[in-house]
Amino acid sequence: MTLQPMRATATAQPNIALVKYWGKRDVALNLPAAGSLSITLGALHTRTRVRFDDALDADDITLNGEREAAQTRKIGAFLDLFRTRAGTAMRAHVESGNDFPTGAGLASSASGFAALAVAVDRALGLNLDARELSMLARRGSGSAARSIFGGFVEMAPGTRVDGEDAFATPLLDAAAWPLKVVVAITSRKKKAVDSRAGMQTSQRTSPYYHDWIATVPGDLVIARQAVQARDFEKLARVSEASCLAMHAVMLATRPALIYWNGATLDCIQCVRALQADGVAVFFTIDAGPQVKAVCLPEAAARVADALREVAGVEDVLISGLGEGARIDGDGA
Ligand code: PMV
Repeated sequence: MTLQPMRATATAQPNIALVKYWGKRDVALNLPAAGSLSITLGALHTRTRVRFDDALDADDITLNGEREAAQTRKIGAFLDLFRTRAGTAMRAHVESGNDFPTGAGLASSASGFAALAVAVDRALGLNLDARELSMLARRGSGSAARSIFGGFVEMAPGTRVDGEDAFATPLLDAAAWPLKVVVAITSRKKKAVDSRAGMQTSQRTSPYYHDWIATVPGDLVIARQAVQARDFEKLARVSEASCLAMHAVMLATRPALIYWNGATLDCIQCVRALQADGVAVFFTIDAGPQVKAVCLPEAAARVADALREVAGVEDVLISGLGEGARIDGDGA
């Protein structure tokens, strides 16, 4: 038997989709029904430590210092994908922590599964390439496939039934267009309906679901061109349109998925007022109440000041764009 390190620590960062995905073409393999395009954030981190241990009878999973049965089952099933490849049944200790609020629309599942995929790959000595890591991260959470990479990233939905063509690829480095993201936190409560359950209900019941899916390929063409040309106005228009179309699908879901609160809407109005004043900024919102205002670097301080003044905004974070998932230090 070759000697594997059996332990590793990795860091990954959440990403925010500008062209959103909401819907799956295969639930078991977690294949998205459409592509997406995202930016990986620099200032928020998930750090995950993994240690395989043949003395363990069951996986021992701690997330932000807590053990929870549902998470242990979900992460155990994710670890099985790697155990099968490595030909081992060994259980693992996993300790993962975020330096930002979990489960509140800040994409903690994206950074969480990306960090876990990279750490487990190293611990088991699998040496998978980034494309394979992206496909495996996707099995944990659709958006995690994108956090394997930094900067601007595009996720391909693929067409194959085995999902082997559904992975993310990097489009542009963070340094090539260093946008800023100002995150307005409007609530720290865990959301009532998670993305996985929410998108399945939308797919079944929202009268707009099919029209929504049909908009995505065209939006991706525009967003890709905007990124390549560093055309902020063009990226702003397509990103806001994609976000609002996704939320329209959510609102028309039965029962309705209303992820916004009053402050969310006030933040949107605040961003629109800044735009009317000539500030280079646009908003995007995921399955949660936080508003992410994407802007040119020189606008970040003004955008943050304006959002801080909105009633109901609890905190404002400013982030640059960041790197993909990686092993920390010597990996141990
Ligand atoms: O990563 P998931 O499968 O939980 O879904 C993420 C869904 C959105 O964040 C709302 C959109 C996206 O493309 O990230």
